[in-house]
Amino acid sequence: MISRSQKLNSKLTLTTASALTLQGSPILKRTVTTALAVLKPPPDLTISDWADQNRRLSSEASAEPGQWRTSRAEYQRGIMEAVSDAATETVVIMSSSQVGKTEVVNNCVGYHIDQDPAPIMVVMPTERDAETWSKDRFSPMVRDTPCLQGKIADPRSRDGNNKILHKRFPGGHLTIVGANAPSGLASRPIRLLLCDEVDRYPFSAGAEGDPVNLAKKRTVTFWNRKIVLVSTPTNKGSSRIEAAFEESDQRRFWVPCPVCGLEQVLTWEQVKWDKDENGDHRPETARYHCADCDAAWMDETRWAAISKGRWIADAPFNGTAGFHLNEIYSPWIRLEAMAKAFLSARAGGDETMKTFVNTSLGETWMESGEAPDWQRLQGLKEQWRAGTVPAGGRRVRGGAGQLGLSPERSPRNCERYARHRACAADQLILPFRVPASSCKIQA
Ligand SMILES: Nc1ncnc2c1ncn2[C@@H]1O[C@H](COP(=O)(O)OP(=O)(O)OP(=O)(O)O)[C@@H](O)[C@H]1O
Ligand SMILES: [Mg+2]
Ligand SMILES: [Zn+2]
Repeated sequence: MISRSQKLNSKLTLTTASALTLQGSPILKRTVTTALAVLKPPPDLTISDWADQNRRLSSEASAEPGQWRTSRAEYQRGIMEAVSDAATETVVIMSSSQVGKTEVVNNCVGYHIDQDPAPIMVVMPTERDAETWSKDRFSPMVRDTPCLQGKIADPRSRDGNNKILHKRFPGGHLTIVGANAPSGLASRPIRLLLCDEVDRYPFSAGAEGDPVNLAKKRTVTFWNRKIVLVSTPTNKGSSRIEAAFEESDQRRFWVPCPVCGLEQVLTWEQVKWDKDENGDHRPETARYHCADCDAAWMDETRWAAISKGRWIADAPFNGTAGFHLNEIYSPWIRLEAMAKAFLSARAGGDETMKTFVNTSLGETWMESGEAPDWQRLQGLKEQWRAGTVPAGGRRVRGGAGQLGLSPERSPRNCERYARHRACAADQLILPFRVPASSCKIQA
C-alpha cells in the first residue's frame, strides 16, 4: 500500500541532462521503473551481440566457464540473429546433441530479461526437466552474468518473485513448465516462447492435446511474438522438429574449403578413415574430405573452415527460419570420436544406429519396416521424354548442385521428390567445376 503522504512526497523530475530521475517511495519507484521498462523500445543490439558483451558461462554447465564468445561456435550467430529479427516469427533448430542449442535458448532468455522485457515461457519435456533447467542452467547464468544480477529477486528473499518455476523481473516474467503439465501450459499470455527438446514431449499434455500447440496459443495476442522450437530429432513421421523444419526455409551451414574455396554442407559421407593391413578400422585417422577437390581436413582445419561458414536457405522464407546442424559442425567433437561412435553403433544394430542418426547426424530415423522397398519404388516408375513436363506439373523450377551425388541418386532427394510429387524433367551435367563466386542466376 502507498500512503497519501508517500504519494504527495513522490515526484518525477527531469534533470538538465534530460534524464528521468525518480524521487519518492521505493514502491512507487519500482512501479514506475517497471512501467517504463515495458515502454522502452527494443534495442538495436542482437542477441549474439548481447551475449558477446554480457553473458558469462557458469562452471556448473560449461567446460569453458567465463566470457561467452559466439565465435566459439560460429553457427550460433545466425540462429540468435534470426531470433532478434523482427521479420521472423518462428525459429526452428533441428540438430545433433551438444552443439549449443540450449545455450542459444539461455541467451534469448538473458537478453530479454536485460534488454527487452517480456512475458517469457520456457517449455521442457517434463516438469522435472523444467526444474533442472531452472536450477542448473538459468540460476547460474543469472548469478554469473553481471547485468542480470539483481534483476531476479534473491531466492532467499521469499517475496514470491523467485520460485523455481516462476521468476519475475522488471517489465516481465519467466514461466518454466513441463510439457507433461497442461495447467502450466495454459497459464498466461506469452510473448517469447522457447520450447527445448520438443521431440521428447508427450503426444498430449494430459488430455489437452499437443503441448506445443497449447503453448503457442499463449502467444496469439502479441503481434511481436517469437516462438523458438529446438530439438534433436527422433523417428521419421512422428518427429515434431522435422515437421517444423520442413515448414521452414531450411537453412544449412555452408563451409568454404580451405584448399579450393568451394562452399559445401558438411555430410557424414565425406568423413573417411583408414583401415590397417588386417582390415581393422583406424578411427584415429578420421578426417573430412572436400566434396570437390577431395582435400583432407584434419580437425583443426575443419574448425577453422567452419568459423568462416554461413547459413544458406533451401526454401523460400515465410516467417519461419529453420536451422539444421550435425555433429561434424561441433567445435567440441573430434572426428575420431564420431567414427568410433559410428562403428560401435553399427555393431550394435538398429537401436544403437538410431541413436547415432538422431544424436550425431541430427536426422530422423526411419524404422526399417517403413523404408520403401525397391519393389514399391519400381512400381512408382513412370516413363516420359526428357525435356517435357509431365501431365499435372504446374510449376517449373530450376536448380543447380555441385555435391557428389546427382539429384536422382541422392536418397534424401528421392524421398523429397516423392513427398512433393516432384520429378526431374531434365538435367544437365557440367563436366567442369563452377566456383560459387562466378555463379549468376538469370530469370
Ligand atoms: N559459444 C559457446 N562457448 C563455449 N561453450 C559453449 C558455447 N555454446 C555451448 N557451449 C557449451 O557446450 C555444452 C553443450 O551446450 P548445450 O547444452 O547448449 O548443447 P545442446 O545442443 O542443447 O545439447 P543437448 O542436445 O545435449 O541438449 C555446454 O556445456 C555449453 O555450455
Ligand atoms: Mg539442450
Ligand atoms: Zn576443396
